[in-house]
Amino acid sequence: MQMFEAHPAMRVFGTMTVPGDKSISHRALMLSGIAEGVSDVTGFLASEDCLATLSAMRALGVRIEQPSATRVLIHGVGLHGLQAAGRPLDMGNAGTAMRLFTGLLSAQKFDSQLIGDASLMKRPMERVAKPLREMGADVRTHNGTPPIDIGGDKRLRGIDYCMPIASAQVKSAILLASLYAGGPTTITAPGVSRDHSERMLKSCGVRISIDGLRTTLQPPQRLAGQNLSVPGDFSSAAFFIVAGLLAGPQEGLLIQNVGLNPTRTGLLDILRNMGGRIDILNARESGAEPVADLLIRASSLHGVRVGRDLVSLGIDELPVLFVAAACARGETWVSGAEELRVKESDRIAAMSAGLTALGVAHSPLPDGMRIEGRVQGKAFAAGEVDSFGDHRIAMSFAIASLRAAGPITIRDVANVATSFPGFVALAQSVGLQIRQDAI
Ligand code: S3P
Repeated sequence: MQMFEAHPAMRVFGTMTVPGDKSISHRALMLSGIAEGVSDVTGFLASEDCLATLSAMRALGVRIEQPSATRVLIHGVGLHGLQAAGRPLDMGNAGTAMRLFTGLLSAQKFDSQLIGDASLMKRPMERVAKPLREMGADVRTHNGTPPIDIGGDKRLRGIDYCMPIASAQVKSAILLASLYAGGPTTITAPGVSRDHSERMLKSCGVRISIDGLRTTLQPPQRLAGQNLSVPGDFSSAAFFIVAGLLAGPQEGLLIQNVGLNPTRTGLLDILRNMGGRIDILNARESGAEPVADLLIRASSLHGVRVGRDLVSLGIDELPVLFVAAACARGETWVSGAEELRVKESDRIAAMSAGLTALGVAHSPLPDGMRIEGRVQGKAFAAGEVDSFGDHRIAMSFAIASLRAAGPITIRDVANVATSFPGFVALAQSVGLQIRQDAI
């Protein structure tokens, strides 16, 4: 088993970039694969999750060259050019890949089966299967979880669907299927979720209109290929944003080329509300996505209340927010985050177990967490925590080492490679003292 040993470091400093955005990398492979012509994607995230999508697209007949780890050339086969894989498609740990492929494959002429690792095989899939069945697709789960069996050759119809949860994966699965439907599809969401699919579909020439929380897609004749530079993943930058606030130098830690899509940046607002000093520099557009450099300065944080609105804009960043909250003056309450229970692990339970092991006063809530911050002395005791095989839990506790009384051992960290290859080396390069070992 892989583990991290993270020793307290005094200072996090310098200039860095984080690897490409995971959500955008998945979508680039799928949409370019069914587009016309060759798409040239740079800044691609060569993590295990995105490589699962890459292998699946190849298995479906798409030629993909990878001249370097972070550049892919995708030879699109057109909307109707995918071919049967002839074997189950393994999505590994990647929930996004499984849910988006369910949408895409439910509109094909052939049958497919989707499987994944032990964590993914336990995650809820009816949330995508149900609306796809309303469209006329043949999608079968096993008691709500994978494997997902998809029967091909169904004629899909456009639907008007009210999503019960604000999920970008569900919305994107429906949008992918609706590319093939007989008429327009409208999705109404109960809250904002990331809109990378909508932005990329527009770039590929698809007519898609957005009116508040209602999104309507008109099925196209074809998708145009795209040349795309994927921005740095805000969710990966999040660990270093918190690290910079906890241990940055006066001149600031600079994180360059971070995607700042407003549907992703809830953590920025929350940390600024907590007193975090974060400057947005050099704001620009990169293709369809906003990008900027972030300058982070060491800050005295105070507790806040975070409700559903900000949670949906920062769901993946809540584990590292809990680490920041443990170092803030007063209490932090996060509510409306019940989706954390069905991520790669139950992230409320996983964070609560680790916070307990490190002596942080807190209470797990059904839909969030209450954390009592500590500014006098060290916020975390030395100790050992389990990541439960969840990449974001592992990296969050690695950042906690900056305010720990002694070393923190983090077990079961191999899955950090699903989203953030090179995390340890990059963390070391800015001053964190983390080692990865096998035990
Ligand atoms: C993602 C959407 C979010 C997020 C996940 C990536 C995406 O999940 O938590 O890490 O790329 O669409 P939900 O759609 O389930 O909220």
